[in-house]
Amino acid sequence: MFFAGCSADSGTENDQGLKLKDVYSIPIGAAVAAGEYGWDSFDTYGDALMGEFDSLVAENCMKAGVIQYSEGNFSWTAPDRLVGYAAEHGMQVRGHALVWHTQAAGWMFTDTGTAAEKKEFSRSRMQTHITTVVNRYEDDIYCWDVVNEAISDSGGYRTDSPWYLAYGDASYIQNAFDYAYAADPDCKLYYNDYNVCVPSKRSDIVSMIEDLDLIGSHHLTGIGIQAHWNLNWPSIAEIQTTIDTFHDMGLEVQITELDIDCYNGSTSLTVNPYSNYEEALATRYGEIFDCLRQNAEEGKITAITLWGVADDHTWLDHMIGGEYISSVTRKNYPLLFDADHNKKQAYFEVWDF
Ligand code: G3I
Repeated sequence: MFFAGCSADSGTENDQGLKLKDVYSIPIGAAVAAGEYGWDSFDTYGDALMGEFDSLVAENCMKAGVIQYSEGNFSWTAPDRLVGYAAEHGMQVRGHALVWHTQAAGWMFTDTGTAAEKKEFSRSRMQTHITTVVNRYEDDIYCWDVVNEAISDSGGYRTDSPWYLAYGDASYIQNAFDYAYAADPDCKLYYNDYNVCVPSKRSDIVSMIEDLDLIGSHHLTGIGIQAHWNLNWPSIAEIQTTIDTFHDMGLEVQITELDIDCYNGSTSLTVNPYSNYEEALATRYGEIFDCLRQNAEEGKITAITLWGVADDHTWLDHMIGGEYISSVTRKNYPLLFDADHNKKQAYFEVWDF
C-alpha cells in the first residue's frame, strides 16, 4: 500500500512533510559508513536526513577484511555504532557481506599444503567468521548478503575468487549459507550481485541457484539486485523480467544498492556539472520507482536500498568506465540528495503522483 495522499510536484517540498520511508510499506534504506575509512554518515547527515530512511546497510564496515582484519581480531566499533543507531531510531539493518572476493580477509587463505588442506584452512575460517559475526548481530540484522558476486561477468562462476580458488569449486557458496543459517535460523539469507539484469548473467545466477540447490538444501531466501544502473540501462522491461524471474523461483527480491551513474559508464575523465543531468536523472528515477512501486505493491520486492545518502559520498566518484580508481575523482550525482544534502528533483519522483 502506498501513501495515497502524498503528491509532490517535482522540485517542491511535499506538503505533508513526508519522508522517503513514509511512501512505501517496504523499507527504504541507505548504505552508510560509521567511521570506517574516515567517513561517518551519522555525524555528516544528522537525524533529519537519516530519518528519511527506515533501513541501513554498512557500506564497508561489515565486510570480512574490515570487520575481522586479522584472525581473531575484530573491528566491532563501526558495526556496533551502525546497529546501535538503527535500534535507537527504529530502523532495520541489512548485513553486507559475509563472503566476497573483494575486501576479503587475506588471512583466511593459504598457499601451503595440499589442495584438501588449503580448502580446509579456508573452510574452517569461513565457518568461524560467519558464526561469530552473525551471532553477534542476531538480534540486530534481519537479513544478510551471505555471498556477494560469485558469478563472473564473462559467464559461469567467478573462478578467480579466493574462495573458489581455495575450494577448487563453487561449494564454498553452499557452506556459506549453511553456516549463516546455523548461526541464525531466523535470518533471511541473500545472494547479492550486480548486472543481474544482463540476461546471460541472470541466467547464470539461476543456474547456480538450481545446480547448488541453494533454495532446497542451503537456506537461500532471497536475491539482492544491486541496481548500479545508469540513465539509459537497464530498460524497465529488463528490470521487470529480472524481478519476475526470481520471484517466480519463490525467492524474496530486494533492490540492494541503487544508484544511477550519470556518466553512463563513460571512460571520459571530464567532470560535467549536475545541471547537465538533473532532468534526465529525475525522469530516470521516476520510471524506476514507478516500476518498483508496482512490484512492492504486488509483494514482488521486499525492500529498496540506495547505495548512499547524498552525492557528497559515493563510490561512483571513483568509478570510471567500469573501473574503480581510488586515486581519480570524477564528480557523479547518483543519489536523491545533492552534495549539500538538499532534495534533488529526482527525490520527488519517489512519490506516487
Ligand atoms: O578512504 C580511504 C583513503 O583514505 C585511502 O587513502 C584509500 C586507499 O586505497 O582507501 C580509501 O578507502 C576506500 C573506501 O572505498 C572509501 O570509501 C577503499 O580503498 C575502497 O576499497 C572502498 O571501496 C568500497 C568498495 O565497495 C570496495 O570494493 C566502496 O566504498 C563501496 O561503496 C563499494 O561497495 C560495493 C559493495 O560492497 C558491493 N557491490 C558493489 C559496490 C560498489 O563497488
